[in-house]
Order: sequence, then C-alpha cells, then structure tokens
Amino acid sequence: MEAIFHGHSFVELFFEWKRILIDPFIIWNPKCDITEQYYDDKPIQAIIVTHGHDDHIWSTQSLAQKHDCEVITSYELWKYFENVVWIKKVSTHGIGWFVMYDGFGVLFTQALHGGWITDFSHWYTTVAAWVIVSIADRTIYHAGDTWLFWDMKLIWERNIDVAFLPIWDRYTMWIEDAVTAASWIKAKYSVPIHYNTRDKIKVDDLEFARLVMLWNESVPKVLRPWQWIVLE
Ligand code: NI
Ligand code: MN
Repeated sequence: MEAIFHGHSFVELFFEWKRILIDPFIIWNPKCDITEQYYDDKPIQAIIVTHGHDDHIWSTQSLAQKHDCEVITSYELWKYFENVVWIKKVSTHGIGWFVMYDGFGVLFTQALHGGWITDFSHWYTTVAAWVIVSIADRTIYHAGDTWLFWDMKLIWERNIDVAFLPIWDRYTMWIEDAVTAASWIKAKYSVPIHYNTRDKIKVDDLEFARLVMLWNESVPKVLRPWQWIVLE
C-alpha cells in the first residue's frame, strides 16, 4: 500500500490498482503535482472529504462525476453534495461511525474546526471531521484541519501506521501542537500537511521533523508533492 502526497491536504491511497483520494484539492492548489486529467486512465474507487472548505473539496465534484465513484463524507456534507452540486453517489457517515466498503473501512470523527460552506448565494453549516482509513491491514489517520484536542490521546489505541497532521498555524495546528499530537497518536510515521501552499505564512516542516524526533514517539516523514510512503 502506498500513501502518496499531492500537496496541501491531498493524499492518495493506492493499493492493488485501487485509488482512494482524501481531500482532493487539484485546481487552484499551486503545490499540487498533478492535474485532474492525470486520473483519466486511472480508476478512482472513492473520494473521502473531511470537510467542506474549498481547499479540501475543489476537485471532488468533477472527479466524482467523471469517474462515477463514491464520495464518502459527513451527513451534513452529503446534503450539500446531493442538493447543491449534484453528486449522486454519496456515502454518508454520522460522527463516530465506522463503515466497511469494498476492501477498506472508514471512521469519521468530529474535528475541532469550522464547517461553513457557500455556493455563493447561500451558506450551509456542515461539520468538520478527521478520518481513519483501514486498508490492506494498515491504518491511516488524516486529521483534516483539526486543532489539537484531548481526545487525540485515544487514537494511539488504533495502532496508526501513518498520521497526516496539519501544521499551518492560522487555521489548523501550530507546529508545537502538531508535535504534541504526533507524540499522543504514536503513529509509526507522522507526516506534516497543509502548509506553505500559499505564501502568506511560512512554516518550517524540518522543525516539525526535528521536534517529532526529539519526542521519539513516532518517525517524522516530510514529503514533497509526488513523494509517498510505502506501508508493507
Ligand atoms: Ni478547513
Ligand atoms: Mn484547510
């Protein structure tokens, strides 16, 4: 199984020719290494969306319609996807629900983050989530845009192989908070995401790596777009 980083919060899980995309932000993402056309000859099995902010859903509509694949998200976003942007195949999770799909399982839990979304004429209130994906005997934690919260201490019980943690301080976690999260979650690998996409605020991913190494509860991996982790 490979977890490929495509910039910002966009992670692709690739296993036995199946592709699961988490938060596909391709158009308007200056750090994304691929275009939507990259997937033209590659079947997408599912798209998981943690929450409705632009930088997490931008390519969901076009990819879901083109590939006729399932979109997996919270109940509130399901209503938005179905009624506003006309995505037909949406699988909806209540917070705390674990659902088995064809070859992989998904758990959604509420993140400490906002969830307003607009179609430019109305505002919709949705929840923000983080997600755990079980696939090929491996467990992946994608934190969405959450801030540090105490319940993260319980995540280590799920034996996480790789944790994707946002480190951009204005809307998610400060580096120090993400390092604390990494030390609580104790994933085999901790990968920083959601930073330096635009130039407004710069954060130092190597500082994250240095501090995670210092705590010694997880191995930091700093990925550039189009780099990946192999989980055997
Ligand atoms: Ni957000
Ligand atoms: Mn975001």
